[in-house]
Amino acid sequence: MGVCFSSNNQSPSTTAHFSSGISQTTSNTTSSSTVSNVSGNSQFSAASGGGVDEVYPNGGQILPHPNLRTFSFTELKTATRNFRSDTVLGEGGFGKVYKGWLDDRASSRTASGTGTVIAVKKLNSESLQGLEEWQCEVNFLGTLSHPNLVKLLGYCWEDKELLLVYEFMQKGSLENHLFGRGSAVQPLPWNIRLQIVIGAARGLAFLHASEKQVIYRDFKASNILLDGSYNAKISDFGLAKLGPSASQSHVTTRVMGTYGYAAPEYVQTGHLYVKSDVYGFGVVLVEMLTALRALDTNRPSNQHNLVEWIKPHLSDRRKLKDKMDSRLEGRYPSRAAVQIAQLALSCLGPEPKTRPGMKEVVEKLEQIEAANERPKEPRITSRHQTAYRYGQPPLHHRSPLHPRNDVNRAYPLPRRAS
Ligand SMILES: Nc1ncnc2c1ncn2[C@@H]1O[C@H](COP(=O)(O)OP(=O)(O)OP(=O)(O)O)[C@@H](O)[C@H]1O
Ligand SMILES: [Mg+2]
Repeated sequence: MGVCFSSNNQSPSTTAHFSSGISQTTSNTTSSSTVSNVSGNSQFSAASGGGVDEVYPNGGQILPHPNLRTFSFTELKTATRNFRSDTVLGEGGFGKVYKGWLDDRASSRTASGTGTVIAVKKLNSESLQGLEEWQCEVNFLGTLSHPNLVKLLGYCWEDKELLLVYEFMQKGSLENHLFGRGSAVQPLPWNIRLQIVIGAARGLAFLHASEKQVIYRDFKASNILLDGSYNAKISDFGLAKLGPSASQSHVTTRVMGTYGYAAPEYVQTGHLYVKSDVYGFGVVLVEMLTALRALDTNRPSNQHNLVEWIKPHLSDRRKLKDKMDSRLEGRYPSRAAVQIAQLALSCLGPEPKTRPGMKEVVEKLEQIEAANERPKEPRITSRHQTAYRYGQPPLHHRSPLHPRNDVNRAYPLPRRAS
């Protein structure tokens, strides 16, 4: 079960906090199908002394109230064709995610005239993650608005059914693109990878810069979703926490997260810092360079944990070249790759204090992008060489269900001996 933020940031919170005005509808109640404000302040805005819209760079905003639509279960059942298996987009710790179509006159219609396309996350009753995470998601995503955060459109809470409705992200997750195999998944070209990590960094920087810092806590490739133009948006706020108060440097929580991405200080002590998110970002940078999973038990035992194994390779130009994703086929500016590896190393610093802030990370990545070196021509011409040229997004045909490696899901993490 996830940990929702509470008014007391210093102690782990295991009880449900439900003060956002989120209302449950019973099955015999016809819930509103029009866009409506959920009444009452969200915990986030209440805790941050909200009531006034705050505007941040890059179009970020904290709304005083969650502006969410309540969906009826019937409506979502119809939208997903009775949660048909061929509409499944993926599955995580919360449950399955379905593609759906809203035939709603109030919504803008797609070119095909089939209505708004949505993604519906349905709580699995056997899920380890549950009500509290569902609440966190509604409270945080309902009030935080930024081009690099996925848009939560609404929710359904009817009897035992808990569902979340998001904007549909056409290109799926970064995880699928980096680690998906088979002819259906085309490798991402270098400049798209860079664009994705910059977008994700901006999203994280926005969370950290908000008046009450938000610690995201579960930064990983599967939580970076991509729209039709490969713009990155961070999803899944079920584990997010409000940051420490002015007098404190960290928040203590029950240790939750995903092995391979969670910062060492957090795994060992339960002390969560804003900079713990920076560590997770560093892991994603390494995954983006190498297309190797943060944790992969199919690798030899000394290589299970990507960071522990790869760190010595990041500071050595030649060793780095050996570890770069072979599917890039050498088409990347090596100087930029070295700079990103250095940035990743600083994000992966063992002490939170030594890691850069996300604002600094964004600036560094933007500089690397601006340098815009011409990529080297490929040296290897293989049968499998991809048809697209550098800079053009690949065609990506998604299969309805993306098999996942369960080890990358968010679970409570037992502490390791320090
Ligand atoms: N808004 C969306 N649009 C399109 N696809 C989505 C959307 N949200 C999720 N998905 C797909 O569903 C998959 C499962 O997402 P989910 O967040 O439930 O699990 P996860 O991130 O893989 O694991 P965890 O439960 O640890 O977060 C994603 O990897 C992605 O492929
Ligand atoms: Mg997720």
